[in-house]
Amino acid sequence: MKPRRPLRSLATRASLQVFILSLFCVIFVTTWQLIVEYRDEKDRVTDQMNGLKDSLTDVVARSLWIYDEDQLRTILHGLKSLDYVSHAQIEDNDLMRIRIGREVPDAIKISVPIYAPNKSQNKDLIGRLHIESNLSSLREKVLTRILSTFASNFVLIMLISAITIFIFQLQVTRPLNHLSQFAKKIQLSNSSLPPIHASASKGDEIAQVYHALAVMHGNIQADYQTILKAEEELKLYKNDLETLVEERTEKLNQTTKNLIDSSRKAGMAEVAIGVLHNIGNVLTGANVRVEKLKNRIDEDEVLINLRSGLNLLEEKRGNLDHYLKHDRRGEKLLDFLEASVEKLLNDHEELKETIRLQRLDLGTISSIINKQQEQAKFTGLVENIDFAACIDDVLSLYAHEINRQQILIEKDFEAEIIVTSDRHKILQIVGNLLSNAIQASSWAGWEQTREKRNARVISLSLKEELGTIIFAVRDTGIGISEEQKPYIFRYGYTTKKDGHGFGLHSSALDARLLGGSLQYASEGFETGSIFYLTLPLFKAPITKGFKSTPNAGIELS
Ligand SMILES: Nc1ncnc2c1ncn2[C@@H]1O[C@H](COP(=O)(O)OP(=O)(O)OP(=O)(O)O)[C@@H](O)[C@H]1O
Ligand SMILES: [Mg+2]
Repeated sequence: MKPRRPLRSLATRASLQVFILSLFCVIFVTTWQLIVEYRDEKDRVTDQMNGLKDSLTDVVARSLWIYDEDQLRTILHGLKSLDYVSHAQIEDNDLMRIRIGREVPDAIKISVPIYAPNKSQNKDLIGRLHIESNLSSLREKVLTRILSTFASNFVLIMLISAITIFIFQLQVTRPLNHLSQFAKKIQLSNSSLPPIHASASKGDEIAQVYHALAVMHGNIQADYQTILKAEEELKLYKNDLETLVEERTEKLNQTTKNLIDSSRKAGMAEVAIGVLHNIGNVLTGANVRVEKLKNRIDEDEVLINLRSGLNLLEEKRGNLDHYLKHDRRGEKLLDFLEASVEKLLNDHEELKETIRLQRLDLGTISSIINKQQEQAKFTGLVENIDFAACIDDVLSLYAHEINRQQILIEKDFEAEIIVTSDRHKILQIVGNLLSNAIQASSWAGWEQTREKRNARVISLSLKEELGTIIFAVRDTGIGISEEQKPYIFRYGYTTKKDGHGFGLHSSALDARLLGGSLQYASEGFETGSIFYLTLPLFKAPITKGFKSTPNAGIELS
């Protein structure tokens, strides 16, 4: 933690600043005064020396003319007695000098020519008077004077600063201290305010802050009371809310349970529809066969014929030998009986064959149920799946239908493609695509020519590309027209008599849930079509919200 700086009061700081400023001013003014006074003093001394020169020239000329040395010395002493004259000297033409004082280089110097005191026009130079004033003593004098002024000024500003501190303390610092105490109380308390300081009534800036703080405090108090009240109410609501939340949670749990039940039932219904769909296909064949057999038995007269033959033999029982050998009808009766038995044997054989086929169908139905039950076990699990084996499983479910329709299956699978995904969903998608392809290939109008019947091929291909697998189902069936294209993924859209219209819809949804997509292509009616299922090798997280789009299955909305 940073050490706190010692507190210096506002008054001390302000006064210190006033003091420093005043000091600078005094120094500046004193220096300026020093320069001006020195210059004035110099001018004054120079003027005085010039005045001396004028008044003394005649006296010195007379004394020098008669060379009255005593008089000359008296004049020089008189000069020296003046405080600003430091050196005086009189010299005549013979370089005879009388001087007083010491000559210094730093001085104001006046040199006056002395002429003979006669009245003639031509003046004769008889000597010179030199007067000097020592500048350094002049400076000292001025400096001493200025220093004393500076000392008195300094004392004055010290006094002014002290007074400023005092006034500042009185007018600003003290009210400010009260103000900060006032603010601190507001900060800490939620009760009554401290009394407002006397200065608050003066209407100055601090008073305005006081009043603003007081109003603020009032507002805070009001808000605080409101908050307390709201808190009370909130407590009440909280209890109600807790009860409400409990009730709603209970309801929600119940709804979720119902929803799970419903989806489980829906799932079971889906599985049941799949089973029924496949079993339905097998049963259709079996029904046709049984119907045919029934019609045949209904139409068959062999038993009636046998009965009438036997009746005839009964009638002729006493004369049987003659009837069989000599009666024209009797002769034909044996052949007729023989043909009827032959036919009966044939019918028997056919019946046996029909029963064999029906048993086969029953076996297929039970294997469909077994397979479907096996798949149902894996619902919702993500696991490693051999995709090719999965396709083979689906093919075995539809084997009967494929054989019945005489459809050629072509396979082009890349080896060992393992997908981490939901087996049940994959089986459903592949099953839907395959059953659509079978149905598209066995379209009634398609079978009219032998050539087209022979061209029924479903090609299945499986390959891996950049972390995804592409499974394609191509058929040579009815194809998809331009008008159909916008609708084929739409829930409930079907062009089939017994269709439901949810195979492609649910497949596209499942593909999206597995992180992949379902797409198709077809050049139009009677040109066949191809469906592509694209899945990631690893299952992507499940996404929500879908919308149906043509060609590209179902997209995220
Ligand atoms: N391979 C295909 N060739 C031609 N048309 C197809 C093919 N697959 C689907 N369709 C068209 O798309 C429609 C919708 O197919 P979808 O599988 O969703 O339902 P469905 O097969 O009619 O009924 P179900 O719900 O019993 O499967 C079909 O009715 C058909 O018109
Ligand atoms: Mg379908």
